[in-house]
Amino acid sequence: MTPDFSSNQSGEKTRHGCQSLWLQKKRQSALCCFRLMGEPAEMSLGKQNTRSISDDSLTLGTSDIPVLEVDDDCEMGNVQSDDADEGGEESHYGPFWGRDSRTLYHQPRSDQDTLNSTQSLYDSDITYFMIHGRRYCKDYFMPNDEEEQTRTQILHTVYLYLLDQKLTTIELENPTKILDVGTGSGEWAMAMGDEYPTAEIIGIDIAKIQPSAVPLNVFFEIDDAEEEGGWTWPDNEFDLVHFRTMAGAFKSWDEMYAQAFKHLKPGGWIEVIDFDNHKKLLSYFDKGSVVHKWVAAIKEAAHISGRDRNGKHLEPERLEALGFVEVSVQTRYLPLGIWPEDPEANRIGKHNLVAQLSGLEAVSLRLLTEVLGWDPAEVRRVCKVVDEAFRKLALDPVEGHGLGAGVRILVGRKPDKPDPSNDTTPVNGAAC
Ligand SMILES: C[S@@+](CC[C@H](N)C(=O)[O-])C[C@H]1O[C@@H](n2cnc3c(N)ncnc32)[C@H](O)[C@@H]1O
Repeated sequence: MTPDFSSNQSGEKTRHGCQSLWLQKKRQSALCCFRLMGEPAEMSLGKQNTRSISDDSLTLGTSDIPVLEVDDDCEMGNVQSDDADEGGEESHYGPFWGRDSRTLYHQPRSDQDTLNSTQSLYDSDITYFMIHGRRYCKDYFMPNDEEEQTRTQILHTVYLYLLDQKLTTIELENPTKILDVGTGSGEWAMAMGDEYPTAEIIGIDIAKIQPSAVPLNVFFEIDDAEEEGGWTWPDNEFDLVHFRTMAGAFKSWDEMYAQAFKHLKPGGWIEVIDFDNHKKLLSYFDKGSVVHKWVAAIKEAAHISGRDRNGKHLEPERLEALGFVEVSVQTRYLPLGIWPEDPEANRIGKHNLVAQLSGLEAVSLRLLTEVLGWDPAEVRRVCKVVDEAFRKLALDPVEGHGLGAGVRILVGRKPDKPDPSNDTTPVNGAAC
């Protein structure tokens, strides 16, 4: 059955802080960063403007691999020279980390920036490295360069559509502290700061890719959620711990969930949002197709790396086993492509397509070269084939009708403090 994508929107678009002037500016900035070569189009894919869709903010080419050309004026992130990877098209084989072929460099120290910002971080400690032209940090498989930041900013607007323009499915009552794990370029945390001005929002990430001009109640910290010894905040601290698009980031989701449980206030919530296993999307392609082979290769590489991307972290039993209550999971569908008739769903279908196509290389490059030993040129060739297959279908409203991806939303609550009046244990501890 074709899912009704249009049901995800309520039409209420001004309720949340995400509509603040600040965020609108950011969003415009994100869209400006996708530019058609030689054209002033706001957001585009493809070298040739071979097909124009009637959306003033999006132009999709049909005959070429997407080119994400970053506007020089774009202010997001700290993009470093790519020279480090010059001549880096040779085959790279070997273990997932500890490769000596990487060029390491440090984020330039920016003391003034740090002093003037609300950030509590030591960015000179962060080591970034280039792998075949993309910038990475630690063991995380996705890049964190400007291209990827722009992509996640577009995805943020797609997620807003998914949640009826809300930032979370949790009804929060006077929250005082909220944690966003793997905050990325910080869109969600900053919008939450606008939405809950009396709460403190903390966004942590291994990369310093967050802006320094942020709402006063938002704090970004460079922190590895997997750091040995666990999270350093006091126990019972947060009203909400939020993870979004973090599949494949962690060795142990159980450990992440245990940490969240420990640091949530009694009655506090965890929310985990991620794309599902793409079963529906894959049903549009032949089993023997390059698309299926590509997906299988990514899954295998993620598994070998010890950071699975199989959607199992979205199983409610994981939270229940740790003591979370009121655990629930729901799947909502995001349209991909131009088929939806509803104008808002159609717009989101195009934005989602831009985000997914530009993510093909981002998802593949490090995993397939470092873990499976593919040649980077081969990875890019396969990405191009997959891109063309997706693009062809997504730009055909008949063949691609119903195309989309499921997103799962897993939530759970830490139980309230046990009511002492219900405690039947005798004072001397003897059994009744
Ligand atoms: C795909 S992005 C998602 C960003 C954001 N949650 C969103 O939905 O827009 C994943 C982010 O997680 C960060 N990350 C990966 N591993 C991490 C870890 N162990 N601790 C903290 N952040 C991590 C990455 O640096 C990246 O910015």
